[in-house]
Amino acid sequence: MDEIKIKFLPDEVSVAVKQGELLLRAAHAAGVHINSSCGGQGTCGKCRVLIKSGAVQGGKTEKLSDHDYAKGYRLACLSHVIEPLEVEIPPESRMNRLVLDQNLSHKPTGRLAAPLNMDALKTKRHRLLVEKKFLHLAPPTMENNSSDLSRTLHALKKQFNIKNIEVDYHVIRNLARVLREGEWKATVTLLSAAAGSLREGRSADRLINIEPGDTAGRYYAVAVDVGTTTVCAELIDMNIRESAAEASDYNRQMKYGEDVISRIIYSQKNDGLATLQKSITDTINGVINTLIDAQKIDRGNICHITVSGNSVMTHILCNLDPRYIRTAPYTPTVNIMPPVKARELGVDLDDHAYLSAVPLVASYVGGDIVAGVLSSGIYRRKGNALFIDIGTNGEIVVGNKEWLVTASCSAGPAFEGGGIRHGMRAAEGAIEEIRIDPDNCEPVIFTIGEKKPRGICGSGIINIIAELLEVGLLDQNGKFRTDAPEGRIREGIDGMEYLLVPSDTSGIDGDIVITEVDIDNFMRAKGAMFAGYQTLLESVGLTYADLDEVIIAGAFGSYIDIEKSIIVGLLPDLPTERFSFIGNSSLAGAKMVTLSTELWEDAMRIAGMMTNFELSDNKSFMDYYVASLFFPHTEIKNFPTVMARFNNIERICGRMRKMHP
Ligand code: FES
Repeated sequence: MDEIKIKFLPDEVSVAVKQGELLLRAAHAAGVHINSSCGGQGTCGKCRVLIKSGAVQGGKTEKLSDHDYAKGYRLACLSHVIEPLEVEIPPESRMNRLVLDQNLSHKPTGRLAAPLNMDALKTKRHRLLVEKKFLHLAPPTMENNSSDLSRTLHALKKQFNIKNIEVDYHVIRNLARVLREGEWKATVTLLSAAAGSLREGRSADRLINIEPGDTAGRYYAVAVDVGTTTVCAELIDMNIRESAAEASDYNRQMKYGEDVISRIIYSQKNDGLATLQKSITDTINGVINTLIDAQKIDRGNICHITVSGNSVMTHILCNLDPRYIRTAPYTPTVNIMPPVKARELGVDLDDHAYLSAVPLVASYVGGDIVAGVLSSGIYRRKGNALFIDIGTNGEIVVGNKEWLVTASCSAGPAFEGGGIRHGMRAAEGAIEEIRIDPDNCEPVIFTIGEKKPRGICGSGIINIIAELLEVGLLDQNGKFRTDAPEGRIREGIDGMEYLLVPSDTSGIDGDIVITEVDIDNFMRAKGAMFAGYQTLLESVGLTYADLDEVIIAGAFGSYIDIEKSIIVGLLPDLPTERFSFIGNSSLAGAKMVTLSTELWEDAMRIAGMMTNFELSDNKSFMDYYVASLFFPHTEIKNFPTVMARFNNIERICGRMRKMHP
């Protein structure tokens, strides 16, 4: 069958594919990213592309308006290639690097006590997870001709009092040469028993490398947050116990679906798991290459990689079938993964480098949350804390130094702009803030990077809804006021909508609106999160008033406005000083456990002490969820500051009615 050429714009990348191939698959083959939240099911509408020349078959669903279809837009996942094409990927269907930088912003704003602040971890009091030791060995003689290995182990015991060592074969294979090359001076690399003890019954340090001479001043480790969307990493100079470089990239698995469920589904296809596993190792390799280039270091000087990720990401990276995570009774293959040679998984590091994964708690509570709780320090404090990571999979932890309970709730993609007609990730041109003049309903729009508006990011949705509520254009059921002055509020293809940006001033080919359907999707997402907090608090006999602190983790959380989030009922109505942001706590935790075996053991302890609650079949959760489908909540008395603001709304509405009878 003839091959057909396709050129993707604006990158000008070409590919030849068989007739009938799906356009989305052709883009994958060309290495061109097109957003595809639903993994190509035709349900998200995010893979919109513009056919500049040529024609495709299909590509139309109700997710594409007739107006856009007439202009040449198609959904890439439903379009079959029938002739040569020139296809433009519009900005809203592309990824933006700005999001990656946000995911690296992991500088905590909370108050973290030693040893949980990075400065405390610089002291030598903490034993590193991997460390180098420089050895002077006595050369063999006729009187003492014990083996090279005995001589090495003896030197370790004599110089550093380190006993009980397991030795990798790779070390023994090179031992004779290395010792003689270095004239009986050599540097060994040890992987601490703390990581090794993950394997049941093991408690020995592991000798993973030996080099001639003194190289103890030169070695690095990498901490990686393996997110479903982004992969963020830090290169740690183990000699000075400091971060030397940071890098991040989109998880290349994104083209196979944006959430963990679509990844599990994809993993069940022929070669699906292998494809996903290669995608994540390719991403990690790319990020490591960036770190190496930034610091101009030898790849061989990287001795260890610590990863923290949700359970599905950890399984796929470790080549473990994630299918049982998704089906009742929701069992992961492993919670505590033994350290494995990074190279065995396809990570491009030298033979001696190991990969350790921060332990998981359950199918939907992964190492990212364990690392997050670790870096927040709540497990060391007396006061009651609520730790939340808001996202498609909302993660919630309640606890203190005595106990920790956790749950994960499927909030859906609304916080990341999914399920919102003009939703987009927090990238340039995303509307993040809005002010509405109550007298004429006209908005003032603020965008990221002060660029022309292209859509609405997750924090923007919160701010827009809060503002619409505050000026009285939206009621507490999430419906637009029918008696509002005409113009901005109007009937659209999805029902009632508020016109944020008309097409002549927007950065896309059309108006930007927020619809009642968008608001409904957001209400469900925030309702799921809030019901999750309530269910967990109820399970331990607490209420909001008992919370001493609320810690918000994650890139999305770092950008939300606390007051607005309380107005819409995403956060409990508590004094703002009780809230703190800790950014990418998963990456911070991965770094901390690399710098301290004591903290690695804490991570193990956290994973062991967390009690997981399954919310999917929990009756209280369902009741709380239904009660949360209101702004801010049906139990309005629990939101006293919002009540006071809403009384003000009545006043504003009264004034508007007078002006626009
Ligand atoms: S509609 Fe095409 S990927 Fe979702």
